[in-house]
Amino acid sequence: MGHGIAEVTAIGGYDVAMRDIEEDIVREGYEQIKWSLGKLDEKDQIDESADEVLERIETTTDISEAVSDADLVIEAVPEQMEIKEDTFSAVDEHAPDHAVLASNTSSLSISSIASATDRPEQVVGLHFFNPPVKMDLVEVTYGEATTDETAEIAHEWAESVNKTPIYVRKDVHGFVVNTVLVPFMEEAAWMLSNDETTVREADATMVYERGYPMGPFELNDFGGIDVAYHFRDESGQPVPPAIAEKVEAEELGKKSGKGFYDYEDGDGVDYE
Ligand code: 3HC
Repeated sequence: MGHGIAEVTAIGGYDVAMRDIEEDIVREGYEQIKWSLGKLDEKDQIDESADEVLERIETTTDISEAVSDADLVIEAVPEQMEIKEDTFSAVDEHAPDHAVLASNTSSLSISSIASATDRPEQVVGLHFFNPPVKMDLVEVTYGEATTDETAEIAHEWAESVNKTPIYVRKDVHGFVVNTVLVPFMEEAAWMLSNDETTVREADATMVYERGYPMGPFELNDFGGIDVAYHFRDESGQPVPPAIAEKVEAEELGKKSGKGFYDYEDGDGVDYE
């Protein structure tokens, strides 16, 4: 998600510093942006050339270098509270006093994340959807201390990068979209666990009958099966065995080459 958000920001005309903990990971993100911008450029879906947009993106592994000049910092680290808190504490130390600090978390509490900083009123959720460059919606989520001024800055910024921001005024687990969308994937996974459907049949029903762009298993592979796993596990409720078994086997979806579909040795998504 991080490289997708950096890409959207640069397309919107802003200078971006993209930071990760390892050089290789930042490089990989940068290569993904290059690929994506190339596609958009080819199809005339951006106003400038891919190279012009790329010029606004710099990469670093140094957190101070990344945020010391920032007006807005958007975090997209793994969905574990301890990592979020460590990151926000470090960002708070190095970012200018006026900077708004945003989290792309899809389910964790903005209030808890904000409490790792000395500026909880300037912390807000900016939740993008995968792939950020193609998906319009951004949830702008309030934590308990978030001021209207901070939320409005985040909202205006999202509009300025051509997204459609929607406020989520209560810091509930999963906000709005994932509260509704994760059960869509889980119900299909419960049915699979109970031998009541197959991956292909469940996906085909949702795509052909409902007109969804992806069926529940394809979507789970696309977003990362571990993400759906952690979403439910953190809330203390049971995870469908079909999802837990995939995580146990480290078959996490597209990013690991195999999930409910096989992207390396098999045909990939093939319910058509
Ligand atoms: N950048 C540039 N081009 C891209 C791209 C990207 N990131 N991703 C795909 N493309 C390109 C493809 O390569 C393809 O190019 P080609 O025609 O030259 O081969 C072209 O776009 C068309 O792609 P597709 O035919 O695969 O399909 P669409 O463009 O119609 O749609 C999609 C792609 C937008 C991903 C659509 O399938 C979709 O909406 N899927 C559902 C995604 C979704 O629901 N996301 C939310 C997940 S939940 C989430 O993120 C929450 C989080 O908290 C977990």
